[in-house]
Amino acid sequence: MTFYDQVRQAADYIRECTDLRPRTAIILGSGLGELAEHIQDAEIIPYREIPGFPASSVAGHAARLVFGRIGENEVVAMQGRFHYYEGYSMKELCLPLYVLRQLGVEDLVVTNACGAVNAAFAPGDLMLITDHINFSGRNPLIGSNDERFGPRFPDMSEAYDKGLGAFARETAASLEIPLQEGVYAFYSGPSFETAAEIRAFKALGADTVGMSTVPETITAVYLGMRVLGLSCITNMATGIAEKKHSHEEVLLTASKSAERFCALCDALLRDWPAGESF
Ligand code: HPA
Repeated sequence: MTFYDQVRQAADYIRECTDLRPRTAIILGSGLGELAEHIQDAEIIPYREIPGFPASSVAGHAARLVFGRIGENEVVAMQGRFHYYEGYSMKELCLPLYVLRQLGVEDLVVTNACGAVNAAFAPGDLMLITDHINFSGRNPLIGSNDERFGPRFPDMSEAYDKGLGAFARETAASLEIPLQEGVYAFYSGPSFETAAEIRAFKALGADTVGMSTVPETITAVYLGMRVLGLSCITNMATGIAEKKHSHEEVLLTASKSAERFCALCDALLRDWPAGESF
């Protein structure tokens, strides 16, 4: 079966499960899955039931699509995502985005838990991603290109949509939620970075570092989607603070920030500006 047929098959299956046709999707990062509880009239589809979908295996991640509404707006949340360090190819882990695009999704909110390289940031801060550095040497679009999805050489000069960034800034200000801004560097993991790697990231212009988001953003832009990126800073990166890292600490700090994170995402998705208005 071709990749295109695999995407079509998964999309056909989902169309049978729900009549909702959201234009906005959100990928919920580690410890941030609670937002799914804000979705009204939820219709849940476990990943394992969708033909061809990978199955998530990381602690702190559920593994399901949650369709429903926030206010008047139809949304779909990916509660649980796939990571490169789990052993998937970058293309495989981005399959859900191809499927969501096929279902009519136009805009993507991508969220994550990450470490702060910028010493002015603190654990618990939320950050608007203004740009990224793909430090993996890999790209999810490597391989033959199917023009039905997107172009061979997609432009990345505005990977994170400026209009959506302005909308996030205004929404955060109206809720009095402080929002940092910066560049997210992608590190494959699953080991955390060394102190020397973090010094290198700093010199390269990174403000945060994490193990997700970049493959998904590249794919979403390729597919013609607008992307808004939001990070929850769960720890200072290696060497920025002396503390050792653990996944438990990441989940704990993310869950402490979840209230503000959910309030922001709820407001964003409730008042989401449809594509035409920009
Ligand atoms: N590094 C990489 N990924 C992360 C971190 C980190 O410090 N914190 C949360 N995800």
